[in-house]
Amino acid sequence: MTSAKLPLIALAAALTGFSGESLAVDWSKVQGKDITLLYPAQMSWELVLTQAEHSGASKFREGKDCRQCHEGDEDSSGNLMVGDKSIEPTPIADKPGFVKANIKFSRDDANLFVRVEFAPGKQPDAKMDPKVDTRVAVMFDDGKVTEVARGGCWAACHIDLAKMPKGTDDGATMYLPKSRNGMTREGGGVVKPADEIANIRAEGGYAEYWEASLNPGAPAAVVDGTILDKRQENAAHAVTANAVFENGKWAVEFSRKLAAGEGHKDIGPGKLYTVGFAIHAGHTNKRFHYVSLEKTFAVDSGKADFIVKKSP
Ligand code: HEC
Repeated sequence: MTSAKLPLIALAAALTGFSGESLAVDWSKVQGKDITLLYPAQMSWELVLTQAEHSGASKFREGKDCRQCHEGDEDSSGNLMVGDKSIEPTPIADKPGFVKANIKFSRDDANLFVRVEFAPGKQPDAKMDPKVDTRVAVMFDDGKVTEVARGGCWAACHIDLAKMPKGTDDGATMYLPKSRNGMTREGGGVVKPADEIANIRAEGGYAEYWEASLNPGAPAAVVDGTILDKRQENAAHAVTANAVFENGKWAVEFSRKLAAGEGHKDIGPGKLYTVGFAIHAGHTNKRFHYVSLEKTFAVDSGKADFIVKKSP
């Protein structure tokens, strides 16, 4: 059986044109979904929660999630924000307002696979990160962080981060609201004492992220980590990535063990995961990226955007 299957998989990979990808999954047999990532400018969690800045704020507080109002309009929102000086004080000339991506999930007995395919389009060179052309990140939670379930990436995006309006520290990285006491419209508040942070972490109240740094023709460099009181790389990396750039398109395949130890969420049936995707294109860094609204995945069955099944 195995020997008969192998050549077929190799053939399928050759036909999709991404011959450099791993053959662990026959992606041609996995149903993907198109999503749109928008340029968010300086639209932080704090602004989104303030009615005077965002007319969706009260409804969000009452329980309506971001996607319930914004899904389908990511392109026009991105186009609006990418050049609007009131929300983007330092616009990058000719920057597209959005990027479309096709997302696929799969698994085998031991591993989770996520594939992100996208064409960055005509991206000006922002020269912020001269060494890295493009970066792709995946951030997810397994239902332990309400703010991520409701607002996806925005749960980690704050007004006092680097390059944000109240950002004073260029090293300030993403954090979750639960890690702070006394957060206000100005963000921040006070980081909770170390023992409280350790308790939240022990209960799984962090978001996990993976990030692949990409340059055409070079192998992907990948890191993984957690976001709680700050963004923190895992001491032991569990994620690998293969990436190929062909005909103006990236195909990036991430994989990791379903159970990958400390700093990694267990992946298995019966849970609803909330996931967000981010793309830094055109040598950008920090907030100058594209982000998705909150999406969901579940393993084997359930009600989610992506049902993670074993490959046929
Ligand atoms: C009840 C519907 C509703 C909800 C829920 C909602 N929004 Fe909005 N949002 C709006 C409307 C209407 C606008 C346009 C007017 C404005 O800016 O106030 C908007 C504007 C925005 C903008 C500026 C770009 C644009 O298209 O005008 C961003 C970014 C944004 N919302 C993000 C979010 C995020 C993130 C969440 C979840 C944390 C969210 N919104 C929840 C209705 C909503």
